[in-house]
Amino acid sequence: TQPDLTVARTRNELAAARDALPGPVAVVMTMGALHAGHARLIREARGRAASVLVTIFLNPLQFGPNEDLARYPRTLDEDLALAAENGADVVFAPGPDVVYPDGTPGVRVAAGPLGEVLEGASRPGHFDGVLTVVAKLLRLTRADLAFFGQKDAQQLLLVRRMVRDLDLGVEVVAVPTVREDDGLAMSSRNRYLTPFDREVALVLQRALAAGRAAAPEGPSAVRRAARDVLVAEPAARVDYLALVDPHDLADVPEHFRGDALLAVAARVGSTRLIDNTPLVVGHP
Ligand code: PAJ
Repeated sequence: TQPDLTVARTRNELAAARDALPGPVAVVMTMGALHAGHARLIREARGRAASVLVTIFLNPLQFGPNEDLARYPRTLDEDLALAAENGADVVFAPGPDVVYPDGTPGVRVAAGPLGEVLEGASRPGHFDGVLTVVAKLLRLTRADLAFFGQKDAQQLLLVRRMVRDLDLGVEVVAVPTVREDDGLAMSSRNRYLTPFDREVALVLQRALAAGRAAAPEGPSAVRRAARDVLVAEPAARVDYLALVDPHDLADVPEHFRGDALLAVAARVGSTRLIDNTPLVVGHP
């Protein structure tokens, strides 16, 4: 492993490593299978804080019974190398028994209505599971700053809301989506894609680009342009395509002008992919 990296697997090891870190301390939370998107978060954190703590925890609480927890890629050795190369000081990589010593927790954070649309509509309970583990990891790491990717825009919004609503007193920093050269958003789940799926998957970002190009013409033009691209690729089964207000995730009305979020989720082969883009709708 890396000379400068401390790996903590238990609560005591984490507490000792955390006590030794100069502040402010930034946390980057991940589920492992790290890629260039995670690397960007770690480097941004490196630039903003004296110390960087990365968590690698495949959180069972945020997976539904028919989701991909069992086959989610586990690549701890490579993850530690990537974390160290990008400037992490400490990696906390606990098992489920460390994070949930009493088993599945009865008390959880409720995401509320914002957790029931888009991703939440397809994945019931998902955001309660995400926010519960994020709250626990914020407490365990005693982080001053926490970095999250725009790739998971709804997750980012909900984390921001939780920090405000529960007065968690951590600064949340957003990091833009990192993409492959051909535009595919980096994701740990891209490893599931066959070469055929990999080509099909490009339809997500093509749909977003078409929506962005139509933005000056208003919301229905954005939706139509993106939808037209998606229907032309029948191998992608669309879960949702939504043009929403980035603050409350409500569908924007036809007369809407201003900042919006175009978000898409689709199944490609056996893999569920998401992507989104911010855009400005309507004539300037
Ligand atoms: P995971 O999917 O591993 O993502 C960890 C962090 O990396 C999240 O903030 C996510 O938005 C960010 N990220 C993923 N792909 C990215 C990309 N292409 N560009 C920029 N950032 C990207 O999100 C989770 O894990 C979990 O829900 C977690 C927050 C760790 C709670 O379990």
